Amino acid sequence: MRTKLFIAFILIIFLALFSNIVFERLIIRDFNDFLKGTKEDHIYWIMASVEGSFKNNEWDRALLNEALHWGLMLGFETYLEDKTGKKIVSTHEVLSSMSPGMLNRMNSFLKLPSGIGEFTWYPLYVGGEEVGKLHIRPIERLGLVPLKEEIFRRRGKEFLIISFLIACGGALFLAVLFTAFISTPIRRLTRAAEKIARGDFSVQKTPPGRLKFLKYRDEINRLTDSFNYMAEALRREEALRKHLTSNIAHELRTPLTIVKGNLDAIEDGVISDPNTAIQNIRSEVQRIITLVEGIEDITRAEASFFKKGTVEGIELKEFIDTIVQGTKELIYDKGLYIKTDGPAITVNTYPEKLHIILKNLLTNAYKFTDEGGITVTWGKYNHDSGAGFFISVEDTGKSIAKEEIAKVFDRFYKDADSGGKGLGLAIVKELTEVIGGKVEVESTPNQGSKFTLTF
Ligand SMILES: Nc1ncnc2c1ncn2[C@@H]1O[C@H](COP(=O)(O)OP(=O)(O)OP(=O)(O)O)[C@@H](O)[C@H]1O
Ligand SMILES: [Mg+2]
Repeated sequence: MRTKLFIAFILIIFLALFSNIVFERLIIRDFNDFLKGTKEDHIYWIMASVEGSFKNNEWDRALLNEALHWGLMLGFETYLEDKTGKKIVSTHEVLSSMSPGMLNRMNSFLKLPSGIGEFTWYPLYVGGEEVGKLHIRPIERLGLVPLKEEIFRRRGKEFLIISFLIACGGALFLAVLFTAFISTPIRRLTRAAEKIARGDFSVQKTPPGRLKFLKYRDEINRLTDSFNYMAEALRREEALRKHLTSNIAHELRTPLTIVKGNLDAIEDGVISDPNTAIQNIRSEVQRIITLVEGIEDITRAEASFFKKGTVEGIELKEFIDTIVQGTKELIYDKGLYIKTDGPAITVNTYPEKLHIILKNLLTNAYKFTDEGGITVTWGKYNHDSGAGFFISVEDTGKSIAKEEIAKVFDRFYKDADSGGKGLGLAIVKELTEVIGGKVEVESTPNQGSKFTLTF
């Protein structure tokens, strides 16, 4: 990619150079044409004025001198021949009859006395009849006029160089810009993708393109975001796979060992009441079935990372009230209270996921509380670290021992008498993170627990 970009910029530079050269050539050619045209005009003036000095079939010497003098001032050396080829007058004669002051003046802008190059002759006509030939050649000019012409030509060259430099600078600037915007992020993405392809999921988040201050969300940045998201999903998949495999192995071992022990006992005939053994086996098999169902649940929660659903603006108060309404009957039946307290606010979130999260927290609060009740609070927060909203589910239940607090979010961690699978909070944590929040727990012995979600 870099090579291609480089070649493209070299091409741009060459194109700029080429167009500049063409441009400069055109301007200089026009200028030279203009000078040539002016010179031709001057020759015609001189010819007309020489022709004007032919009167009554003879040359008027005074007028002729004046005409050649004119020619001299316009920068030409001339001499005149009549139609027989006899020389009538020349610039040299005019020069020799000139006053010293005038000659001085002439010398200041012409390199006298002779012109340069071959003479060119032009036929002279008066009344439709040829009367002679005017021979003419330019005299080298000194002073300002040729200098100005030279300056103009030099300017043309300078213009060429300057515009070439501008084109180069521009191309270079663009090259740097393109590299920052496109090439570098793509190269980073490529490297990260190659790493993943090799099975290394430890890729760091690939930063988006530079010049972030422009707040310009282009395709490259979006591609980077999608890539980071995909890499994160793959990393989670991988972690989940490893985690689940070891969890499952661990969780299956106990019931299977018990089943096997009971079967062995029946086989060996050491058991007095086979019904008890069968009962044991049945309850262990049930544990295994529950475990498998739990695995399905957690896999679904993990999979939701890939299907976040859509963000919606919801009325948080109504949303929570509806969920609470669904659990009220059970809670009241157990003799507990349930209170809700929070402002009417609209928040942007993934309602489906938030529903599952709250349902799990409420179920736990209900399950582990025998006296008192449950309070759900919510609101907005605005800290130095950011702004958002929070929801708390607090109960007056049996509370969680200090040393257990760190484990409650682990998969399969549960209280001996919970009767569940120990997966509810693992799912809560998983889903909360998926939708961009975090969950924390506080618990005071004999007073209850408080789970707080912040988004
Ligand atoms: N509100 C609570 N008060 C006291 N202990 C709790 C509370 N919530 C969770 N715990 C403890 O954390 C453990 C894990 O909870 P989690 O919701 O993950 O599993 P569970 O409720 O036992 O089973 P499941 O939710 O899978 O049916 C519980 O068994 C319990 O010991
Ligand atoms: Mg639970």
